[in-house]
Amino acid sequence: MSTHQRNPASPRVTAPQLAVRKRRGERFAMLTAYDTPTARILDAGGIDVILVGDSLGMVILGRDTTLPVTMEEMLHHTRAVTRGTTRALVTGDMPFLSYHESPAQAVRNAGRFVQEAHAASVKMEGGRKRLGAIQAVLDAEIPVMGHLGLTPQSFHRMGGFRLQGNTGERAHEIMEDARALADAGVFALVLEGIPSELARAVTREVPCPTFGIGAGPHCDGQVLVLHDMLGLTDSPPRFVRRYADLGTEIAGAVQRFQQDVRNGEFPSEEETYPSPEGLAAEIRERYGC
Ligand code: KIV
Repeated sequence: MSTHQRNPASPRVTAPQLAVRKRRGERFAMLTAYDTPTARILDAGGIDVILVGDSLGMVILGRDTTLPVTMEEMLHHTRAVTRGTTRALVTGDMPFLSYHESPAQAVRNAGRFVQEAHAASVKMEGGRKRLGAIQAVLDAEIPVMGHLGLTPQSFHRMGGFRLQGNTGERAHEIMEDARALADAGVFALVLEGIPSELARAVTREVPCPTFGIGAGPHCDGQVLVLHDMLGLTDSPPRFVRRYADLGTEIAGAVQRFQQDVRNGEFPSEEETYPSPEGLAAEIRERYGC
């Protein structure tokens, strides 16, 4: 089966389905992915939404913030992820300055995620300030996931990665932003780095599912950066639960490989192609080894 063919037994998750499933009281799991093999694992594991986050700038490309991530990098990784999925809804994260200039720029770049990388939706950070761009993308028939609270692309304005909405006034602004995005028609909302009571209130207020990250247990779903939950990043934030320690696993495998090579224990006979009959003798005779 080609990677873009659908599996009829398990049809693709769509953006409009999520609000219907929220009404039924379902809860959702979203994870990030940046490449084909991990996307395949998440897809086969039943993850509903795979986010190709601009967090890739930090966890894959070793940068300090998400700000330098480009459209070309996002499209490259989104293509890799869509190639690895048949069921999950894939959301491409619009990088810093790819939608801030004008609604026309936002539509052009959101369209590239769909046309060139086969994503079925995009994520855009920001509330009422970004409403023009978000509305334009929605009007172009592209589902948008909003992202409020700690928005990493606002790193310099926030003065770092800090909890947001922790005064009555700021909490009210986040609630108003959530209402505006929901009225515009976003299909989901990421709530990052906000107090749990505020996340609960927003979740009750909006018809679309909320995905929390550092926003407590009351959201409709939760999202984590894959490399954080697999133990591939150093000193993750307190809201991360480590479900595996792949960093230690990989370090152990590297040591064992190195030792086997140095001791002449790799490769073994089973890991070596046998020479066709007669060739070994001919080589020995001709080259003396
Ligand atoms: O870029 C990203 O991975 C994100 C998630 C943390 C929500 O925005």
